[in-house]
Amino acid sequence: MTAPTVPGLNPAPTTHQRLLAWVSEVAALTTPDEVVWCDGSPQEWQRLTDKLVEAGTLVRLDRKPNSFWCASDPTDVARVEDRTYICSADEADSGPTNNWMDPVDMKVIMTEHYRGSMAGRTMYVIPFCMGPLSADNPMLGAEITDSEYVVISMHIMTRMGSAALALFGDDAEFVRCLHSVGAPLKPGQADVPWPCDRTKYITQFPEERMIWSYGSGYGGNALLGKKCYSLRIASVMARDEGWLAEHMLILKLTSPQGKVHFIAAAFPSACGKTNLAMLDPALPGWEVETLGDDIAWMRFGDDGRLYAVNPENGFFGVAPGTGWNTNPNAMLTLAQGNSIYTNVALTDDGDVWWEGCSDTSPDYLTSWRREDWTPESTDPSSHPNSRYCTPIAQCPIAAPEWDDPDGVPISAIFFGGRRATTVPLVVESFDWQHGVFMGATLSSETTAAATGQVGVVRRDPMAMLPFIGYHAGDYFQHWINTGKNADTTKLPKIFYVNWFRRGDDGRFLWPGFSENARILKWAVDRVEGRATGFQTPIGWVPGPRALELDGLDVPREDIKQALNVDDDEWRAELPLIEQWFATIGDKLPTALQDELQALKHRLG
Ligand code: GDP
Ligand code: PGA
Ligand code: MN
Ligand code: MN
Repeated sequence: MTAPTVPGLNPAPTTHQRLLAWVSEVAALTTPDEVVWCDGSPQEWQRLTDKLVEAGTLVRLDRKPNSFWCASDPTDVARVEDRTYICSADEADSGPTNNWMDPVDMKVIMTEHYRGSMAGRTMYVIPFCMGPLSADNPMLGAEITDSEYVVISMHIMTRMGSAALALFGDDAEFVRCLHSVGAPLKPGQADVPWPCDRTKYITQFPEERMIWSYGSGYGGNALLGKKCYSLRIASVMARDEGWLAEHMLILKLTSPQGKVHFIAAAFPSACGKTNLAMLDPALPGWEVETLGDDIAWMRFGDDGRLYAVNPENGFFGVAPGTGWNTNPNAMLTLAQGNSIYTNVALTDDGDVWWEGCSDTSPDYLTSWRREDWTPESTDPSSHPNSRYCTPIAQCPIAAPEWDDPDGVPISAIFFGGRRATTVPLVVESFDWQHGVFMGATLSSETTAAATGQVGVVRRDPMAMLPFIGYHAGDYFQHWINTGKNADTTKLPKIFYVNWFRRGDDGRFLWPGFSENARILKWAVDRVEGRATGFQTPIGWVPGPRALELDGLDVPREDIKQALNVDDDEWRAELPLIEQWFATIGDKLPTALQDELQALKHRLG
């Protein structure tokens, strides 16, 4: 079949010649049965969700309006970091933390995978915009996919369809995003509920601002506006243009006196971003509102402050552990409906459930593996990386600014991870450069958000290890330069937090969740110069008295332990930091070497 004869290819709803040429070229290569240009309408959502219900991919939930349960292929449940490539023209530009292949070689390999890969399927063209449509420079993309699940997920996670396509005009720049599940159908061949291929490639071509993804339907691998565009490609744009594309939530904190601060926080996947973004503060009179839970694009405003915008339109949150006790605002968002649940359990009466959803489990469930499940079952009912996908606009605490193209001025940046030991509950950096050192040496136990072993401590700089689209050393230098070129009095203060420190018996020392408001309060009090801290070798730490602990039902000994900076533990950390820096090689900024030497010196 040659491209021009594919139904739906012409006439197209755009006069953008490069977009048209690319769509024709991909159709000729992948040979779909038809091409559909997505308009983003409610009718399109209805048509595609009906089709997916019919196909057995989705189950419509009786107990939540316009919401759907989905179970993936059991092998396609998370991001695949070992199959993710940064194909820069020069290998040196991808650096030591990324997989690299020559872009020409990669295109040869992937072209053969794409050849005929959409046979028997529909090819969808999704014009989309990351960040508000009303931005001066709307950040456009187009995703071609053969997955209806991807289309409906993009309905939630991005601004897409006709409104985005209108911004393409005749020749706007856009990021080309090609996705195929890699499961062509022969004539008459029955489909499976979750088509995918054993072979997977998640490939970024940074110089061409292009993404090719093959073989997976999972969110982070397949919704290409998210990690691939808004972090890997955008981090390269940000380096070139002098801004920051980061793995950060954005929240608005209002004090009882009505004073507003915006905070951005970077934690590795499944380490608490979504929960912190939607915090229901334990402190009376304090209010948290949400702007974003995963990605922040930050640029300096004319006033010299750093402004953050969330490029996304929805939340793609970890389900397990999300409940009325831990994250009521997520539960309220989901209660509105219009959501997709992937790899959680399905109840008898057409609702969803997962570990931590409520204190007691239902007596009977269909597990994410589509098997019978009872409380006696040994395996969890839901995959640990099961997800909900839901619109920001229906979050009861969505901040009014969440869709503002100007973004919000950031007062504080938090870095954090999961560390059972060593890293205190909160520590404030001495200055920007020291804060960059904290971010660059961030460490965390691995989670189920990526395939591979869980619970292994690794360095995850700025929580961006899987997402930096270029050389990590250059990325650190970019962070250093960001501070050097700025008015230091207007820069956000940088903090390092750890909600996950454990006692000798393995319990968490800090209750976390809504109680994290106490840490937010200390941070903004520091920003305003009101709270005390005492100086330790690793930064400023609140004494137990500087933290607002009223009404907190936790042994004070636990809090002391959570805040403790143990010099021996930190001395043991030094060789690990040295090893990590050694892997960065020549491009490690001298500023970070200096910070390491200074830390050593302070530790004696
Ligand atoms: P994200 O992937 O970074 O957005 O992380 P989430 O907010 O989805 O949280 C991931 C997991 O960590 C969930 O199981 C949460 O229940 C858990 N979690 C989040 N915040 C806290 C906290 O403050 N303390 C503890 N102990 N667990 C938390
Ligand atoms: P998370 O987002 O950071 O909320 O887990 C998805 C991911 O990073 O894979
Ligand atoms: Mn993430
Ligand atoms: Mn999240």
